[in-house]
Amino acid sequence: MDVGTGGTRAVLIDEHGKVIASAASEHAPFRSPHPGWAEQDPEDWWRAAQEAIREVLATSGVAASKIGAIGLTGQMHGAVMLDAEGAVLRPSLIWCDQRTDAQCDWLHERIGRARLIELTCNPALPNFTLTKLLWVRDHEPEIFARIAHVLCPKDYVRFRLTGTYSMDVQEASGTLLLDVTHRRWSSEVARIAGIDESWLPQLFESPEVCAHISTEAAAPTGLVAGTPVVAGAGDQGAGAVGMGILQPGSVSATIGTSGVVFAATAAPTKDPLGRLHTFCHAVPGRWHVMGVTQAAGLSLRWLRDIIAPGANYDTLTAEAAQVSPGSDGLIWLPYLLGERTPHLDSQATAAFYGITASHTRGHLVRAVLEGVAYSLKDTFTLFAELGIPVHGVRLGGGGARGPLWRTIQAGIYGYSADILEAEEGAAFGAALLAGVGAGAWPDTDAACASAIRVAEQIEPDPAAEQNYATGYKVYRRLYPALRSVRETA
Ligand code: XUL
Repeated sequence: MDVGTGGTRAVLIDEHGKVIASAASEHAPFRSPHPGWAEQDPEDWWRAAQEAIREVLATSGVAASKIGAIGLTGQMHGAVMLDAEGAVLRPSLIWCDQRTDAQCDWLHERIGRARLIELTCNPALPNFTLTKLLWVRDHEPEIFARIAHVLCPKDYVRFRLTGTYSMDVQEASGTLLLDVTHRRWSSEVARIAGIDESWLPQLFESPEVCAHISTEAAAPTGLVAGTPVVAGAGDQGAGAVGMGILQPGSVSATIGTSGVVFAATAAPTKDPLGRLHTFCHAVPGRWHVMGVTQAAGLSLRWLRDIIAPGANYDTLTAEAAQVSPGSDGLIWLPYLLGERTPHLDSQATAAFYGITASHTRGHLVRAVLEGVAYSLKDTFTLFAELGIPVHGVRLGGGGARGPLWRTIQAGIYGYSADILEAEEGAAFGAALLAGVGAGAWPDTDAACASAIRVAEQIEPDPAAEQNYATGYKVYRRLYPALRSVRETA
């Protein structure tokens, strides 16, 4: 199950990793009552989860009693706050909610930025769960006083499925309450931040069976009570399993709503400046780093919705394919939702630079595809700076589906890029983890070796190299220049 932002998806796989059926149910769009806020109702995720499970069972014709185990994944970082009876106290502040700058500053002052990175491997960012809890402490003390349990989105769905409060260490890494190096809650951070450790769920490694479907959940879902549920991982962690990014040196670039460059590492590799996230991997005993572009696929959707509402993406990218690499000097900065890597600036804004009267709609589209890839390249630049090896890149998400965005990515990253035979996203990774929990494979490496195959390799186009190099150089200079305009305005 993938409890995403837009909807919940259920994928059923067999013991060879083959997808038998999938089904999805949309969520209500997130609410943004103030600029930068983003909230969803946990009850809506549970409604969508029940629908997706019932539908996948119906369309597959597979008897629920045949299901060996269920794995969960979902949008990361969201704060779900429950009272002592397990009732939801308020809508969840989700991953892209940007309201907590003041709480981030408070944490850095209280703990010290360097000490916080030492303890959790990461600095305070508005995306991370702890900062959202502190916002509720500061603005809704009556709700904060009633908190008895804190979960992330998919773990809330697990709670409804099983009645247990559990979380995997990969997801927990994105709460800012985990001692990522030792894979346990950080008592020191919880104490200094005023978070009662009893609110935090029990921790598991991703492929471990942590709970079973309850009798209450069996009727509305059609599942069989007692079916094992593995811990799973956040969408980036499970997505990496689904793409076979398990060994140091293997790297993925995934463009969904957000964009992520993800590398597996043998040990926690910290960026002293905190520009990359350093999290536990879904594979026990391994870690990962990732750089996140907040508005990757979202940039393209935003452009489509304002210049060509309802237009097909293929029509727009066909126009963009007529434009030369480098978009004749037009450059897009994709900071529609502030930015994480490398700027850590929730106030950053997006921009087109270099518009002339000769630019067409195709130029705007191509510049957006290229600008998102430049932004992901910033993470490769950080990997090089920190000595994180890159032996190859696998492309995933919507950005891997069309031929143009794939070629642009290979060209801008400067690596040959693998396209996988069946790229089924995070739900597939969660299903592989469930397969490990159910004993279909001895471990996650074996699961990926049996289920994942490369279909195609895209080489960077040498004719485009110079244009992209020039474009990236200009791109790198634009953010600092615009920031200085903003700060002196
Ligand atoms: C990862 C992140 C996003 C969300 C939404 O850090 O914030 O990937 O999980 O998908």
